[in-house]
This record gives sequence, C-alpha cells and structure tokens, in this order.
Amino acid sequence: MCGIVGYLGNGNAYDVLIKGLHRLEYRGYDSAGIALVAPDGKLNVFKAKGKVENLETICNDKDTDASVGIAHTRWATHGEPSDCNAHPHYSEDGNLALVHNGTIENYKLLKDALEEHGCKFHSETDTEVLVQLIEYIKINNKCSLLEAVREALHQVVGAYAIAVVEKNDPDTIIAARQSSPLVIGIGDDETFLASDASPFVEYTKDAVYLNDGEIAVIKRNEPLKVLNLENRESKIDVKTLEMSISQLEKGGYPSFMLKEIFEQPTTLRECIRGRVVENGKRVIISGVRDHKEKFLNAKRIVIVACGTSWHAALIGKYLIQEMCHIAVEVEYASEFRYSNPVLGKDDIVIALSQSGETADTLAAVKIARSMGAFVFGISNAVGSSIPRETDSGAYIHVGPEIGVASTKAFTGQVMVLTMIAMAIADLRGTLTADEIAGLGKVILEMPELVEHVLKLNDKIERLSLIYTYARNFLYLGRGYNYPVALEGALKLKEISYIHAEGYPAAEMKHGPIALIDAEMPSVIVAPRDHLYEKIVSNVQQVKARGGSIIAIVTEGDSVIRNIADHVLEVPEVPECLSPIITSIPLQLLSYYIAINKGKDVDMPRNLAKSVTVE
Ligand code: M6R
Repeated sequence: MCGIVGYLGNGNAYDVLIKGLHRLEYRGYDSAGIALVAPDGKLNVFKAKGKVENLETICNDKDTDASVGIAHTRWATHGEPSDCNAHPHYSEDGNLALVHNGTIENYKLLKDALEEHGCKFHSETDTEVLVQLIEYIKINNKCSLLEAVREALHQVVGAYAIAVVEKNDPDTIIAARQSSPLVIGIGDDETFLASDASPFVEYTKDAVYLNDGEIAVIKRNEPLKVLNLENRESKIDVKTLEMSISQLEKGGYPSFMLKEIFEQPTTLRECIRGRVVENGKRVIISGVRDHKEKFLNAKRIVIVACGTSWHAALIGKYLIQEMCHIAVEVEYASEFRYSNPVLGKDDIVIALSQSGETADTLAAVKIARSMGAFVFGISNAVGSSIPRETDSGAYIHVGPEIGVASTKAFTGQVMVLTMIAMAIADLRGTLTADEIAGLGKVILEMPELVEHVLKLNDKIERLSLIYTYARNFLYLGRGYNYPVALEGALKLKEISYIHAEGYPAAEMKHGPIALIDAEMPSVIVAPRDHLYEKIVSNVQQVKARGGSIIAIVTEGDSVIRNIADHVLEVPEVPECLSPIITSIPLQLLSYYIAINKGKDVDMPRNLAKSVTVE
C-alpha cells in the first residue's frame, strides 16, 4: 500500500514524479504529495487529498522547477485521508522531507520521546515521527543525513520503504527498505527510485532491487551506493527489466480492468509458453523439476494466500489432490501466521500472490521457512519480495496487472497451479502419460477458448442492465467451480459495492436459501461436469423460491436453459480447466454492473492493489 517515487538527474523532476505517481496510483489513492528541492536549495512541498489529479491541479500555479524530488500516493493507515496526513512529511524546521510506504509499529513510543524533547507534530501519521526522529538525530549528533537515517532506522520497528531529501542539497536522495518494496532505476546521468519499476521503465531498463535492511545513497554524478544498517557496502546487482511501456497503458480500452480481461488469451499464452511442450505431451515447471526430491517426498502441501489469490489457491487444492493424491490445505495467510502452524521438512508451502508483496503472505513465507518447510512462491511481479524469499517458485507471466480487481492474474494463477499439479503428478506417477498429453493438448487450446468466451461481452453488457440495481447477489458453484463462485462474488462487491456472497451450491440449503426471493438474483456456475445433476437440483431449488437465475453453462446445455432466467454458454473443457473458462463471464458481469453504476472500476474505494500492511 502507498507508492513512493523519487528522481535525481538533469530532467524535470516534477514531470517524472507526477507520471510515476499515476503509475503507482493502484497502490493507494487517498492523497498524493510531492517534495522538490529547487535549484536555489528551497524545499517545496505540495500535497492534496484524493487522487494524483488533485495534486496536479494544486501544483498548476506553483514553482515546480527542480531536478530532484520525491513523491507519494497514499493508502491511509494512521490518520484519515487529508491534506495534513498526506506525504511527504517534513521535519519541524522544514529541513527534511520524507515519503514512506509501510508502518512504523513503535511510532507512539518514539513520538512521546520526541515530544518530551519539544518536538511538535502536525499530522496523525506514523511517518511524521520518522522524519522528525531523523532530523532530531541529525541536529543532536551533528551528523550527515545518511548517518542520521541509519541511526533512526536502528530505532524503528516496522516496515518501510522511504526516501528522504534535504533542503539546500539538490544532489542527494537517501532511500531505504525493510519489508516494503523499493527498486532503483539507473539511467544515463539520472537515478530513479520507486515502489515498483513502472514509473521509470521508459527511461531505463537497469534496475537494482533493494534488500531488507539496505540503504541507497543516490548522489548526483556519482555511482549508486548501497549500504547495510551496519554501514557495510553491498554489491550492486543490476537486473534488466522485462516490463514494457505498452503494458502500463490502457491501449484504447476505457479502463485497465477491461483491458486486462481482454488480454487473457495473450496472458495465458505467455503463461503456458515453454512449459507445455511437445504438443502437450510434456509439462516443464523448472521450479518443480529442480527440486524433484522435495515434490516426490512431500506428505502435505499448504497453500497460503489472500483475496483472489486465495480463491485460486482453493482451485489449486482440487487440482493437486485430484492429480497428485497429496493432501492440500489452503489457508488465509493472515490467519495462518496466528494459528500456531505445525510444519516440518516434509511439508511444502506454496505462497500465492500476484504482487509478491502482500504483507500477510510474506509473513507466512517467513514462518514456514523458519519451521523447515520447503517454500514455493507463485507470483506475477518479477523481483518482488515473495519470489526472493522462497526456496523455489514460478512466475505467472501475465504482465503488470493495474486494475485493483484481479482478473488476468487469477486465470494465470489457476493455469500455473494446473501445470504444477501436472508436473508433480508426472514425477509421482499419479497421472499417466496419456492423461498428461490429453490435458496438455487442451491447455494449448485454452487461449483460443478464452477468446471465444470473450465473445459473450455484448450479451453480458446487455444482461448487466437488468441487474445493476440489485442490492444483494448469491453466487453458487460446486467442486472446481465453488472457488469460481467465491471469486465472482468478490469481483462484484469490490468494484460495484453490491453485497454478494459466494457459497458451495449444496450449502445453500443450510441457511442462505432463506435469503432467496424475487429481489435476490443468483449467479450459478454450472458447467457439465460430474456434479452437474446435483447442481441442477440447486438451480431448481432457487427457482422454486422465486429467485432469478443467471447460469454459466456448457454450450448446448438444454436442462438448465429451461429453468434459469439467463444462460451464458461457455465451451466444454475438462473439469479441472473449467474455472479458467467460467470465471471470465463473471469478470465481465461485475465490470458492466459497476460501470452502469458509474463506479471507478480501476480504483475502487478503500482498496489498494498491493496490501503491504497487516
Ligand atoms: O497480490 P496478492 O495476490 O497477494 O493480493 C491479494 C489480494 O489483496 C487481492 O487478490 C485482492 O483480493 C484483489 N483486489 C482482488 O481482486
């Protein structure tokens, strides 16, 4: 949560920073702010509540001339969204400005101590404590900014990615990280920093991912220096970015969410590429192949994740149990860490996270590793924390997902989990070569099948008009499509703010059926699979109580068609691959309902894409 960006070079810092903030806005949009060190050494700080465009309006008539600066887009934790709580925060004497992504857990203790020394605070944030502490140390120890930052970081407990600039020094930015992402971009005579590489990808492809406990010293006309908190210099490992600018733009679509829904044939192709080979006969997941023994001997797999990733994880459970005959448990990462987990060396923990930065999932990774489990990460963001903290893993390769509501990452995660299950099943001999080849062949066809499903777009747009003003929705599914129902409900509530509940269809009769009446539409995911007859009964039960039904069915279905009010037909695929197909109409339905209600689908209220706080 929160995005930070910094620039030092010969260009116009304001332009780079504002553009960078727009790219990072998916991380939070409660307020935005910028600090610029002007050529005459003046420190200009501008802030505004709300989205980055509000900040731009405020800055229109201000002096923004500078070649160094830092900026921030906020997802509020400590203190309501307001101009005053917006970053950058500055020290009492206005000498330093600081931006921060993370949470300072012992801020109250530090604040009390600083207040005793006469320090005055203006905001309710934890961040202001950090900048005041740095300034206090700097003055009292008569030391450099770097030394003061290092000393202050020894005193803080919590998570941070920070950047600090100083009045009268237009040649320096000090940045540091602990449990919040920070990447430095190295250009020609210019250096960038940001929460992810998107703000600087058009300027340079050379990036240095900071590790926990590292401080970056960015100085004009000097090479980047990285030190640890004990002042030892770290080796600089420059990585080449794979991200491209077109991936960060809407490309003619009205929103990132719609673009990302329509990208799924391409993203699935990327996800499969090089992994399902020889016309589908072989599946290669290098992170599994390179740790063969672990997967051969595993007694249990525990998958930890949050939100949409947790829904994909549930599908992973069905996949792995069916194909590999290994017991799988799926845990909310946020609960896992406080549930006294029992893990050992024969357990594999899979951490599933699009962003690779979700604080709870990252914490679960650390606990699992400390208990001796083998930890496998599945992520989308290359170079993010989870892939760097796990023993092995696989990327989903769907490109940056910017819409806050996850769509292409979900189908990418399910696809990677399918391929992982097949690779493990191959190793353990729980699927035959013919079974693998049969599934592999369909996997290769999935991008075209998804393209076919996307042709439902216009029909779903029309259908959405009928349901836009429903106040509650029920989503039902069974087996592999029970998690799809959960995901459909989450998609609807997060972008349209309509209450929706996902349920295993058979559970309906144990309570939720009481809710059914003419006002409560049910979305029932009912492709032709081994539970089809059973779900037909559930459809009838809803109908018998006067509920209206939108059903996702297999092409040619003639039974549910006669009961449901509306059917959306999808192509027939093997049961284990059906979630990738059935989830897409649900993405489109929630998208159009939210659009009809005039909601901002890319930046829904109160949410942020990357949840880096507990
Ligand atoms: O980056 P992660 O996959 O770890 O994120 C987990 C959730 O925060 C995320 O899936 C969230 O639920 C999405 N907004 C759902 O669309």
